[in-house]
Amino acid sequence: MKLVPGTSFIEPFSVGLDLEAAVMEDPSRVTVRKASAMRGYYADPAALERLIASGDPIHYKVYEVPVPEEYGHLMYCISELEPGLVGDEYFMTKGHYHSVVQTGEIYLCLRGEGFMVMKTADGRVVAEPMARNRMVYVPPYWAHRSVNTGTEPLVSFCIYGAEAGHNYGDIETEGFGARMLRVGGKPELRP
Ligand SMILES: [Fe+2]
Repeated sequence: MKLVPGTSFIEPFSVGLDLEAAVMEDPSRVTVRKASAMRGYYADPAALERLIASGDPIHYKVYEVPVPEEYGHLMYCISELEPGLVGDEYFMTKGHYHSVVQTGEIYLCLRGEGFMVMKTADGRVVAEPMARNRMVYVPPYWAHRSVNTGTEPLVSFCIYGAEAGHNYGDIETEGFGARMLRVGGKPELRP
């Protein structure tokens, strides 16, 4: 067997996914983002501070059994975004480009309802609906963020090239170009 530099050889393995309950059994890494990790992301910072002061609730969790972050491997996760509002803005993830910007990603929604909001560096914004059994294809070059517009957790299974990495910094500086707000009781994407 000839190994290719930059792509590690590992043993095969399997992971339990309960698609009904939308959970990964025995994840070896769980990333938790509380409300306090979302400072700077919402239009109404005072509303976010009130939420943090009320107990700093969990915003979202990402469950993984990580593989080497290398070309050829496939990273995957289950993410769980809580429902709620910061002012009139629905709970959302930070959103990111991939560090290797020419890598795409698949999100299969398992539970809940919301949107995958995607943007390009030159300012295009597209929101695709997420609901159980709906798959969103995030093409290369598009930053992506999920938004929970429902009343239960928004849970998705994701898969992407393991070399992709996460670039949060560009979103911190350039924002997302549009926000998913509750207008008259319904979600509306506002520039
Ligand atoms: Fe991603």
